[in-house]
Amino acid sequence: MSEVRIRPRQVLVLIIVFIFVLMMVHRNGKHTCQGPEYLQAMYSQSQANKLPKIYAITPTYARPAQKAELTRLSHLFMLVPNLHWIIIEDSNTTTSLVRNVLLRAGLEKRFTQLNIKTPTEFKIKGKDPNWIKPRGVEQRNLALAWLRAHADVDHHAVVFFMDDDNSYSVELFAEMMKIKPGRVGVWPVGLVGGLMVEKPLLDEDNKVIGFNAAWRPERPFPIDMAAFAISLDLFIKYPQAVFSYEVQRGYQESEILRHLATRDQLQPLANNCRDVLVWHTRTEKTKLSSEEALIKQGKRSDEGMQV
Ligand code: UGA
Ligand code: MN
Repeated sequence: MSEVRIRPRQVLVLIIVFIFVLMMVHRNGKHTCQGPEYLQAMYSQSQANKLPKIYAITPTYARPAQKAELTRLSHLFMLVPNLHWIIIEDSNTTTSLVRNVLLRAGLEKRFTQLNIKTPTEFKIKGKDPNWIKPRGVEQRNLALAWLRAHADVDHHAVVFFMDDDNSYSVELFAEMMKIKPGRVGVWPVGLVGGLMVEKPLLDEDNKVIGFNAAWRPERPFPIDMAAFAISLDLFIKYPQAVFSYEVQRGYQESEILRHLATRDQLQPLANNCRDVLVWHTRTEKTKLSSEEALIKQGKRSDEGMQV
């Protein structure tokens, strides 16, 4: 009978290979951009005034859930020291409701409150709850004009278009700090486009080579507004980059990005697009039948209160 002899050297090689495989498996499963340690590391790099500024641009409009939505966002921003919030009301004046939310969160030195009303001809209702025309166009363009006139262009900063009703994690804003000048950061978005997650697809060198979108995948950039943030220098370099009513619904993202970047300027973030740090949630329309009955009697449940 022949004996199989294993030499000590072979055993050593086997052990090394085993440890290597174990390390790879562990690394792949690990979230590199989640949790308090990660946030601590990102923000303790330097003081808040040395971090790249993040300009978040949020259109908002009056409806029963407005204060609730804005309170969620304002409390998130209490945790994001390097943020400047440009909030643009879809109304003829700025309101005390919005201002009070901002002040209550201690953001007085970190916000710009603007207003511009969407012309009624653009508010034609399509199949409920969607409009025929895209939302937030006037408001985002006003914010871009403000940014081009007032932003500190000598320092690297990042611009993010932030709807008032989505769900954002604090880690998303820490990830945005990694966006390099001249680049557009991209990441997955949960619960959008008829999928659990829409995400950029990467090759083995972690370059963006496509997207998994199911809805209108032929769009130049088939991603949601919440899926990217842009280095400020690109907005200064390309002053013609604005939002437009002249494009089909769902093409706003492609419309702004086509002026600013090509696909190879996309910088994948959120653990190489494996983590979801933002969700395209939509709040149900508030039912107020009893309130309407009260109003008919000349009463209200919210008398003297800002709800
Ligand atoms: C999707 C995208 O995520 C939006 O970024 C995009 O603007 C929109 O479609 C579109 O192209 O119309 P969706 O959830 O359908 O979002 O839109 P909303 O969240 O209802 O509106 C987007 C933003 O516009 C919100 O911040 C909202 O407050 C604001 N808005 C909406 C107004 O300023 N005025 C309105 O009358 C309605
Ligand atoms: Mn929304």
